[in-house]
Amino acid sequence: MPGGIVVVTGGAGRLGRAACRALAGRGWWVRSFDRHPSPVGESVVADLADRAALATALAGAAALIHLAATPDDDDFRARLLPDNLLGLHECLEAARAADVPRVVLASSGQVNFVQQQSGPWPVRVGDPLSPRGWYAVTKVALEAAGQVHARLTGHPVISVRLGWCPRSRAHAVELGESFHGPHCYLSPGDAGRFFVAAVERPLPAGHHVVFATSRPAETVMLDPEPARRLLGWEALDRWPEGADDDLPA
Ligand SMILES: NC(=O)c1ccc[n+]([C@@H]2O[C@H](COP(=O)([O-])OP(=O)(O)OC[C@H]3O[C@@H](n4cnc5c(N)ncnc54)[C@H](O)[C@@H]3O)[C@@H](O)[C@H]2O)c1
Repeated sequence: MPGGIVVVTGGAGRLGRAACRALAGRGWWVRSFDRHPSPVGESVVADLADRAALATALAGAAALIHLAATPDDDDFRARLLPDNLLGLHECLEAARAADVPRVVLASSGQVNFVQQQSGPWPVRVGDPLSPRGWYAVTKVALEAAGQVHARLTGHPVISVRLGWCPRSRAHAVELGESFHGPHCYLSPGDAGRFFVAAVERPLPAGHHVVFATSRPAETVMLDPEPARRLLGWEALDRWPEGADDDLPA
């Protein structure tokens, strides 16, 4: 039942705001941990490099949703290495020290890039990985870290390969014009409902990998069954439903 603290790293971002809103609506005390303040819930404004701030933020938390990252390909040394890899390390080690009983990690459909582009569809979570670039490599590492964290702590970890949720109007146009975007879209509403299920649903220990997309325009590219089986989560929206919600002008 809701009522505890959920820490959302990246809580000021596109998916983080959706997660914070949905969890707060269920009665959770939402604590965003981000370089920027979140419009929803309590905000800890700090960098993932700050282990002491992470430790304080995670004390007594019922769950951690780790979304803070550079969210696409970028300079490796300046952005991907500190945000996505060193930040992941700091965050998971702080969660382990605080004995946070559940962790949800933001992976990406980009870890299955080649198969997502050209099939065979649907891509299953156990299919061979084909990362798109160095950003996707950081998400492959994130999933491996999730596996380690689950084994070391005995707590459940979900690595969710998130679909495409546009962060700007230009990004939404790019999605709409792309070949796979309308089939791999993830609306903020569906994302929020996903994170609620990921926090609230009773789970066995271990590392669980699932895809999360809204309902595909036509082709089911990313297998929705693991999320349905694990969390009872069903997407409600279809591109472009919800795409403009909470989108900066
Ligand atoms: N939006 C998508 O289409 C999509 C798809 C697949 C996976 N993801 C993943 O989901 C997560 C959230 O993505 P988003 O689209 O909401 O991105 P976003 O850029 O809107 O949000 C990311 C947030 O993380 C914060 N952040 C980044 N590095 C940080 C650091 N070192 N310390 C503190 N805060 C930091 C940023 O300030 C930002 O508010 C990311 O891990 C991303 O890789 C996103």
